[in-house]
Amino acid sequence: MTRIPHETSGEPNPLNALGLDRLRRRSSMKWRTYPEDVLPLWVAEMDVPLAEPVVRAVTEAMELGDTGYPAGSAYAEALAAFAGKRWDWHGLAVERTAIVPDVMLGVVEMLKLVTGHGDPVVVNSPVYPPFHDFVRHLGRRVAEAPLGADARIDLDVLQDTFRRATAHGGRAAFLLCSPHNPTGTVHTAEELTAVAALAERYGVRVVADEIHAPLVVGDTRFVPFLSVPGGERGLSLMSASKAWNLAGLKAAVAVAGPGAAEDLARMPEEVGHGPSHVGILAHTAALRDGTAWLDALLAGLDANRRLLAGLLADRMPAVRYRPGDATYLAWLDCRALGLGDDPAQVFLDHGRVALTSGLPFGTGGAGHARLNLAASAEVLTEAVRRMAAAVEETGAVGG
Ligand SMILES: Cc1ncc(COP(=O)(O)O)c(C=O)c1O
Repeated sequence: MTRIPHETSGEPNPLNALGLDRLRRRSSMKWRTYPEDVLPLWVAEMDVPLAEPVVRAVTEAMELGDTGYPAGSAYAEALAAFAGKRWDWHGLAVERTAIVPDVMLGVVEMLKLVTGHGDPVVVNSPVYPPFHDFVRHLGRRVAEAPLGADARIDLDVLQDTFRRATAHGGRAAFLLCSPHNPTGTVHTAEELTAVAALAERYGVRVVADEIHAPLVVGDTRFVPFLSVPGGERGLSLMSASKAWNLAGLKAAVAVAGPGAAEDLARMPEEVGHGPSHVGILAHTAALRDGTAWLDALLAGLDANRRLLAGLLADRMPAVRYRPGDATYLAWLDCRALGLGDDPAQVFLDHGRVALTSGLPFGTGGAGHARLNLAASAEVLTEAVRRMAAAVEETGAVGG
């Protein structure tokens, strides 16, 4: 693998670049949902300045008045080149891609292609809450195949869920989260190969949400689902939005394996009218020229994972936290604190710190909270201080 080691990027850690005063001037969801006295470590936005190539691309577009409709395949080409360099995957064929408005709307469109009304969609709970919400909104049924206690896909449970999902006919899909939100689990080639074999055996179509793929740290390797043996009939959604903090600049890429090209070709042309042209320019610049910035971010996230683990061990030893190898999300098992099913509510009410409640993540979410560690060391330290103080204030056990 030719990946550039994170440490050599030479860029400063973007997570320590902005102070709270500056961040509070932002008008996005992370900063405007709660009052000013609440420290927000919830929704997946990062407290970073943008990568310079992204700023340049968007500024140039503004200067040119280049704010019309999107054209061309530059985004998919930049993604294919990034996949080749970063993951040693050379199978992303631009002719088997389509631009979609964002990852979740792309997921919806892919599920429309491979399932019908009322059909089951298997998910590995606890999982990113919109997996439940969008599937239901689409008129499909969520079938949970909970992760194992080690936060990895339990292949026996998955097989059983596939068997039940397909027992009465209809078409079933597996909405794979890879890497997994909220646990940060990076699925191995062996696991994904086994998933592909099970999917083939039961006639289940795999739609892989790979939005967190660039956010894999250290020596762990991200394996694209479409690259594993048997993954040819898969569909994937990729985007620069999480790794470069571009959620407000809407765009994503749907990628079909060779055996799914005909499915993707059935996607209505008008879906491609949804993404923002400026978004596509920004995402393309990120993938093409933003890898040094990304490497600096990954090094910063690595440091934050260690910092969080240390802070929790010190201040709240009863909280179980297993740092994952991807994403900037920390999944905290707070059950031993005795705060009930929704510890995030207690941290908010008593500590004025906003985490994401574990409950909407589905089975396995009760007693858990998700913490967004894409913040400065100072903010993370203050967040844990507030959480520990909240536990003390409520008189709960095991703080
Ligand atoms: C797994 C996963 N998929 C999709 C999204 C949202 O992506 P988009 O804004 O492109 O729909 C997120 C956001 O955090 C996510 O974690």
